[in-house]
Amino acid sequence: GRKWTRVGSLMDELKDQQILVRGRAHAIRGVSSKMAFLVVREAGYTVQCVLNVNPGVVSKGMVKFVTGLSKESIVDVEGIVTVPNIAITGASQQVEIHVRKVYCVSKSQPTLPINLEDAARSEKEFEKAEQTGEHVVRVGQDTRLNYRVLDLRTPANQGIFRVQSYVSMLFRQFLISEGFVELHTPKLIAGASEGGSSVFKLDYKGQPACLAQSPQLHKQMAICADFGRVFEIGPVFRAEDSFTHRHLCEFTGLDLEMEIKEHYFEVLDILDKLFITIFDGLNEHCKKELHAINQQYPFEPLKYLRKTLRLTFQEGVQMLKEAGIEVDPLGDFNTETERKLGGLVREKYDTDFYILHRYPLAVRPFYTMPCIDDPLYSNSFDVFIRGEEIISGAQRVHEPEFLTKRAKELGIDVNTISTYIDSFRWGAVPHGGLGVGLERVVMLFCALNNIRKTSLFPRDPQRLAP
Ligand code: 4AD
Repeated sequence: GRKWTRVGSLMDELKDQQILVRGRAHAIRGVSSKMAFLVVREAGYTVQCVLNVNPGVVSKGMVKFVTGLSKESIVDVEGIVTVPNIAITGASQQVEIHVRKVYCVSKSQPTLPINLEDAARSEKEFEKAEQTGEHVVRVGQDTRLNYRVLDLRTPANQGIFRVQSYVSMLFRQFLISEGFVELHTPKLIAGASEGGSSVFKLDYKGQPACLAQSPQLHKQMAICADFGRVFEIGPVFRAEDSFTHRHLCEFTGLDLEMEIKEHYFEVLDILDKLFITIFDGLNEHCKKELHAINQQYPFEPLKYLRKTLRLTFQEGVQMLKEAGIEVDPLGDFNTETERKLGGLVREKYDTDFYILHRYPLAVRPFYTMPCIDDPLYSNSFDVFIRGEEIISGAQRVHEPEFLTKRAKELGIDVNTISTYIDSFRWGAVPHGGLGVGLERVVMLFCALNNIRKTSLFPRDPQRLAP
C-alpha cells in the first residue's frame, strides 16, 4: 500500500522509505531544466522536495511542470526520504524528499492578496530585512482578517488554534473527571442575563428575544434540575460598543456551575486545579505549537504557582494604595488599574495568574450572593492573567424573593426572567460557578496583543465577515 505521511511527522527514522505527502506548494525554485526544489507545507510545517531528472522516473517535462506551479496549490508528492548532510535552512523538517512523482490536486490563483512569507514574519525579522534592504511589507490586522483563510495558514496561527483546541479539551476532560456533566443551553432566550446594554435583540417569530449573553440563567436552572455539577463550551454574544483589544461581539465561553456545600471557596478550589491542569498540559503537550507562536510573537512563559494566589479585592485596593494609586474600595478596577495591580502582584508574589475575590456587591450582576458578614461585598471573584481578566464568577442567590428584589433594584424587567426565578421556588441548593473567555485565555497565555488573533473569524463592532 502507499504510505501517506504528515509533513510535521517526517523524521530521520523514515530514511530511505518511499512515502507520500499532500500539502501546499510553499516555495518553488527552478535551478535548471533538469533540477528544481519544491517546498511543501502542511499545517505550518515544511519539507524540501528535490527534483532531479532521472530517466524513466523524473522527466524534464515534470521539472518544467513543477517550476510552473503557482504557490499555494495543493500537491501530492511521492518520493524517498533522505537525510541531507547540511541542515536545510528555512524548512521546518530536517529531512528531504527525493521526488518520484508530483500531482497537482488543486490549483491556486497565481496572485495572492497577501504575501504569506511576510504574514509569517516576526517584528524582529522585519527590522532585520529592512536593514539589509530586502523588500518586505508588514501585513496589517485588517488585511489579515479580510483574507483570514490565507492568514490562518501561517505557522503561528496554526499553533494558536491548536493550543485553543487543547484548552477546551483539557477543560472538558478535567471537569468530567471531577463529576461534571456537559450540557448545552439555548442561545435564543427571552431576556438579558448580564445587563441590558450589551445585548443583541432579535425578533423571535413576532416575540422580542435576545442572543444569550452567557449560559448563566440556564446553567443555574440545570442545578435546580439536580445535575449537581455542570459545564458548557459554547458561543456567547455581546453587543459591545467599544472597539478594544480584548472585546469581541461573539466569543467562546467556558462555563461551569456547581453545588456548594459550605463556602464559595469550593468553586475556587476547582478553578485552581482546573487551570493548573490546563497550563501544565499546554506546556507539556503543545511545545511545537507554542514554539511556532513564539517564533513570530515572542513571549515570556506564564508564571503560575502550584497553589493559585488568592487576594481579596480589599487587599488589591491596599496594594494599589501603597503604590500611590487611589481606588474606590466600593467601586471596580478599570483596565489600567488591573494592569497596574498585575505588575505589583508579579513583583511581590512572582506569578502572572491569580484570583481576586470578595468584590463590592454594587459592581456585580444581580444574581451575585452578598457576603454574610458584610453585604457591601459579595462572594464573587475575578481571575487574571498578566493583569487582564479571563474569568469572573460567584456564588449565586438561590432564594427567589431576594433574587427578584435584586433584579428590580438593578432595573431588570423581571417578567423576562420569571421562569428563571421560578426555578428556585421548589427547593434550590446553594451553588456557584464561573465563566471563562476562551480567546482571552489563549491570548494572555501567549501574551498576544489582540483578541482577534485568537478568534478564528472574529466578530467585533465593525466586522461581520468573513
Ligand atoms: O465577566 P463576564 O461577563 O461574566 C459572565 O458572563 C458570568 N455569567 C460568568 C459567571 O459565571 N459568573 O464574562 C466571563 C468571561 C470574562 O472574564 C472574559 O474572559 C470573557 O468572558 N468575556 C469576553 N471575551 C471576549 N469578548 C468579550 N466581549 C467578553 N466579555 C466577557
